[in-house]
Amino acid sequence: MAEAFDIIIFGGMGDLSLRKLIPALYGFEYDGEFTEESRIYITSHRAVESEEFKSKIQASIEEQVKDDADSATNVPRFMQRLNPVVLDIADHAGGWDELAKNIENNACATRIFFLSIPPYLSETCCKNLYQHGLVAGNARIILEKPIGVDLESAQKLNASVAQYFKEDDIYRIDHYLGKETVQNLLALRFTNILLGDVWSNSSIDHVQISISETVGLEGRAGFYNDVGALRDMVQNHLLQLLCLVAMEPPHEMNADNIRAEKLKVLKALKPIDSTNVNMATVRGQYDSGLMDDQRAAGYLEELGTEQGGSNTETYVAIRAEIGNWRWAGVPFYLRTGKRLKRRAAEIVIEFKPVVHQVFNESVGAIQPNRLTIKLQPDEGVELTLNTKQLHQREMKIKPVNLELDFADAFDGHRRAAYQRLILDVVAGDSTLFIHRDEVEEAWRWINPIQDAWKTLDSVTHLYASGSWGPQKADFMLHQDGRSWVEPGDPSA
Ligand code: BG6
Repeated sequence: MAEAFDIIIFGGMGDLSLRKLIPALYGFEYDGEFTEESRIYITSHRAVESEEFKSKIQASIEEQVKDDADSATNVPRFMQRLNPVVLDIADHAGGWDELAKNIENNACATRIFFLSIPPYLSETCCKNLYQHGLVAGNARIILEKPIGVDLESAQKLNASVAQYFKEDDIYRIDHYLGKETVQNLLALRFTNILLGDVWSNSSIDHVQISISETVGLEGRAGFYNDVGALRDMVQNHLLQLLCLVAMEPPHEMNADNIRAEKLKVLKALKPIDSTNVNMATVRGQYDSGLMDDQRAAGYLEELGTEQGGSNTETYVAIRAEIGNWRWAGVPFYLRTGKRLKRRAAEIVIEFKPVVHQVFNESVGAIQPNRLTIKLQPDEGVELTLNTKQLHQREMKIKPVNLELDFADAFDGHRRAAYQRLILDVVAGDSTLFIHRDEVEEAWRWINPIQDAWKTLDSVTHLYASGSWGPQKADFMLHQDGRSWVEPGDPSA
């Protein structure tokens, strides 16, 4: 059981809260991780009728409720824990005193503020927390991405939050780091000698990191159209995954060491700017197409904008390079996109061919070894090795997969990424959270790409919904003599 804590969600009736945070907190209830006195405060700028509040919460946890017994015991207990609070974040007098009073009445030693609000409100929110005496006891703050929209705004935001909270009490969340297999990547890399010496340019040909989504705008047009995939997914999730694949082993596993190693990787990323952006990046936008045999609208159609109205990218592919001894010459191909064929997130480590072929061509083409780390929807690890085809007199080589499916290997129900991460905040463990230096360094690499796209007026390539993205992205790899591995492909 976690220690007693109060959690206050700003933007509590918003999309992120209802889709991810409340269900994650329900997971605490289901797992018996709440102490009796722990409370959840859900702030919203407008008063929500109690019936509407109840039905929204119930809809948000619907998928988590396992059975009738769960519904009869945990749901009422969870509902009891919730306290709706009407609060205007920007208004000093707008409900802050009531919030402070409410919390004081039942104060737990640890209080966690989750800012699920637009970044421009973050500073005001922190200031009001401070001025109303709420930054007391073990006060911790969770900042949800986006942390700024570029380097300058991120620095400004980090500096303003730092006026009221110490860096150790600031938890910048990237929910990808809460996914079980992402954490497993560290275990895999640093506890298996087999992967030790081969984990470098001496044995690895290239790395692919793909996050493909089937969803489109999902009613987030206002946010998304200003941001695009580079800032929504690459600046954070994809770069964090790249760091975990590429970082040096820390001498000891703790938050400071991990963050320091990740930072070194970010610093070593070779710049992409107007001189190489066209060779090293591809941006795309989904057009109409077929998803599960149903017509899906294109991005502009969904946005309600005429053709040419927006060139925001919903797809990005990048050929990144890390300029250090371990990784020199190994491309890291990153890609992410919405409305792609399949929802999947995977890391593929493709090894080099054997240094000398002892078999002649009659055995068939010999594939290089490949390690696939599956993050979602399935979680597991797959190692492709070459073997002799059985029951054949002649020698024929065939690649086969050694598969470790985490769902089969380990029983028990899995915690959602947000549940796992909030538990870490309660425990004061920031290993899986991002230091301000990392956020800023990531922007230092992303900004020139964004600027180059703007100044060169680079083309946003259309791709059909339900496809694997623009052909130009295939071409980028073909030029290097490589090709994408389809994420989530059972036959890959
Ligand atoms: C969020 C992005 O950070 O991650 C969304 O803002 C995206 O655009 C989401 O859909 C993907 O997360 P997951 O866990 O569903 O892969």
